[in-house]
Amino acid sequence: MQQHSWRPVPPSSVGITLEQHISQQMAMSPGATGHFTALLYQVMLAAKLVDARVRQAGLADVLGLTGETNIQGERVQKLDLVANEIFCTVLQRGMRTCAIASEELETAILLDGGGRYAVAMDPLDGSSNIDCNVTIGTIFGIWRRRSESMERGQDEDLLQPGSALRAAGYIAYGSSTMFVYSTGAKFGVHGFTLDPRIGEFFLSHQDIRVPSRGNTYSVNEGNSSKWEPSTRKWVEHMKEDDAASKRPYGARYVGSLVADAHRTLIKGGIFAYPADRKSPKGKLRLQYEANPMAFLFEAAGGRAITGRPKPAGGSNRILDVRPESLHERTPLVIGSSDDVETYERFLGETGA
Ligand code: AHG
Ligand code: MN
Ligand code: MN
Repeated sequence: MQQHSWRPVPPSSVGITLEQHISQQMAMSPGATGHFTALLYQVMLAAKLVDARVRQAGLADVLGLTGETNIQGERVQKLDLVANEIFCTVLQRGMRTCAIASEELETAILLDGGGRYAVAMDPLDGSSNIDCNVTIGTIFGIWRRRSESMERGQDEDLLQPGSALRAAGYIAYGSSTMFVYSTGAKFGVHGFTLDPRIGEFFLSHQDIRVPSRGNTYSVNEGNSSKWEPSTRKWVEHMKEDDAASKRPYGARYVGSLVADAHRTLIKGGIFAYPADRKSPKGKLRLQYEANPMAFLFEAAGGRAITGRPKPAGGSNRILDVRPESLHERTPLVIGSSDDVETYERFLGETGA
């Protein structure tokens, strides 16, 4: 009998759709007004629209011949920009958002209209994998606004710490398309798989829990010459032979954060993008890559740290970082609690 790290959905001929699930969660939240629910529906719609474009990505280029214009005479745009436009348009039309930050936009879109939420997103994550048909994704985080409710949204609405997130999630456009989201530890982390025949997401992974320990490590080892000695020692440790601690671990690295994080969430293990000489602040973005993933991992019983030693009396949780700018970077270590603890031990030992 296969062991799952999530509860299998009870058998029924009728599945639970993402829309129904969002409504049920709203019903469990006293005082909910429907604004947040409406916003999540918009994210779901945008995800389906992006999915449709991802599924045609190879064809769009082939039909475009020159790569510039397709047979309808439309310019073939890069998928990152297409995804950005889809999410921004759907969210702006939806009127529940006061501020939108995106990897593809230098400055935030600040909106009038009294929207109550601020959304940060990476519309297309893993773009180097588009051309070779490897899993890519979208990542999003949602905060309740901080500025006055009737004025235009402000950057401060987007510069809140991960600990203040109201919801976060990702969509993985892989061998199947999955929507994974959480509205916090109390409500759990849930995964939905798109049925492409009818264009609906159905609950497939109820209450995902990260196993307390895994058997893979995930890091771009091509950067090892630029790493700090502590990171090198940690990877050497993961590769050592030791039956008692079930080492060596296997190596897995896709190069799309969504794919590497999704595997780690489901199967356990550890993913790290540490700081190195080339990227002294790390490579990944705090507000629309690290924080949403950290929120999901903590809600699923895992951990997410900056990969820096814990300052005396302070915290090295990603969710506690005070953001200073929309596109700031951070080192990121996420995964099973025991595996993150092992990483931390190396930081402590070498004082890196
Ligand atoms: P994006 O495609 O949104 O720019 O993100 C790429 C990120 C992330 O998905 C992945 O974890 C990381 O870059 C991979 O970086 P390396 O190629 O340096 O390993
Ligand atoms: Mn990305
Ligand atoms: Mn991106």
